[in-house]
Amino acid sequence: MIPVVLSGGSGTRLWPMSRTQYPKQFLPLISGKTMLQETVARLGDVKTVNVICNEEHRFLAAEQMRQMNQPCSIFLEPVGRNTAPAIALAALDAVAKGRGTEALLVLAADHVIENEQAFRDAVAVAAPLAESGRFVTFGIVPTCAETGYGYIKRGDNVTDGSYPVAAFVEKPNAATAQDYVASGEYYWNSGMFMFRADRYLEELGKFRPDILSACEAAMQTTAADFDFIRVDTEAFKACPDESVDYAVMEPLSSAGGAGIGDASVVVVPLDAGWSDVGSWSALWDIKQKDEQGNVLTGDVIAHDTRNSLVMSDDRLITTLGVDNLIIVDTKDALMVAHKDKIQDVKAIVAEIKASE
Ligand code: GDD
Ligand code: MG
Repeated sequence: MIPVVLSGGSGTRLWPMSRTQYPKQFLPLISGKTMLQETVARLGDVKTVNVICNEEHRFLAAEQMRQMNQPCSIFLEPVGRNTAPAIALAALDAVAKGRGTEALLVLAADHVIENEQAFRDAVAVAAPLAESGRFVTFGIVPTCAETGYGYIKRGDNVTDGSYPVAAFVEKPNAATAQDYVASGEYYWNSGMFMFRADRYLEELGKFRPDILSACEAAMQTTAADFDFIRVDTEAFKACPDESVDYAVMEPLSSAGGAGIGDASVVVVPLDAGWSDVGSWSALWDIKQKDEQGNVLTGDVIAHDTRNSLVMSDDRLITTLGVDNLIIVDTKDALMVAHKDKIQDVKAIVAEIKASE
């Protein structure tokens, strides 16, 4: 098994803590470890991990792996082209090293999983399925009609701990998501996958030969220094931007199998306290709260304050007679927001970018 940690997201929904220079996966948001470190630690003892990130963040990634004494290869993307190309780089590298029939365990670097044992158990169920040539997804029982997720329709007949996938729908609209949740037949896609490197490239080549050939070109002239693997800048820039969900998982799930036994895409249910920490309110949800329902970090005095998240980076923050607020203070930006409006932080980030 080859772990592949996708670490190239920008994490804008956790602004102002998460920045272009310092996105959320490199921050210790949940514990003393950063989210990237938590992701790697969760694997238990592994010989090596592949971290795929933007060139800009190479020292963050390298230093965080060094702190853990974790041998690694860090693939550097000159620009973000989303997850389908990022995974292709790791898959091409595995094939080049004669490890094409090994399963890649593709993980997001910025998820929280409370029950690590349940996660490892699910991976143990997935491994032989992936090694047999299947594409394994990990399904989360949905709790709301979130439109930012992929939805996996469970087929009949559980075998070896997995269900065939009857459909995979990435980011449906709100009405469709509501129908899916009400039906009880759908899981959320956790964004973690397991499949063989050679199988991924085979299917990517069928559905998106443009992405495959751009990544092949980008890997032809890699330069390795220390743990870094640099891909060819111009070739990678020419690669289309697409997620693995749209590029491979959706079309492969509707293709109705690729001649491997019963189903080419399967789902292993994962009940492990998963969260993708998609917003400050999600972070508030996960974190341990005091008796007033507050999550207070740093130098904070909260008086008559309820159900709020207050994070101070440096100076003292005091609150009085407020509730349901998110207050995040950093060296150069302060955000005060109502918890119910926090999804709109993206609009603020867009406004800042536009004015730069
Ligand atoms: N290396 C690299 N390069 N990593 C990337 C890039 C990139 O260009 N873009 C995103 N990532 C990383 C992110 O850091 C994150 O860890 C992971 O890939 C997923 O990317 P997101 O941008 O967070 O995807 P999403 O949240 O819209 O959707 C995915 O995750 C959902 C669950 O959280 C999909 O897989 C959905 O189907 C799924 O439900
Ligand atoms: Mg995400």
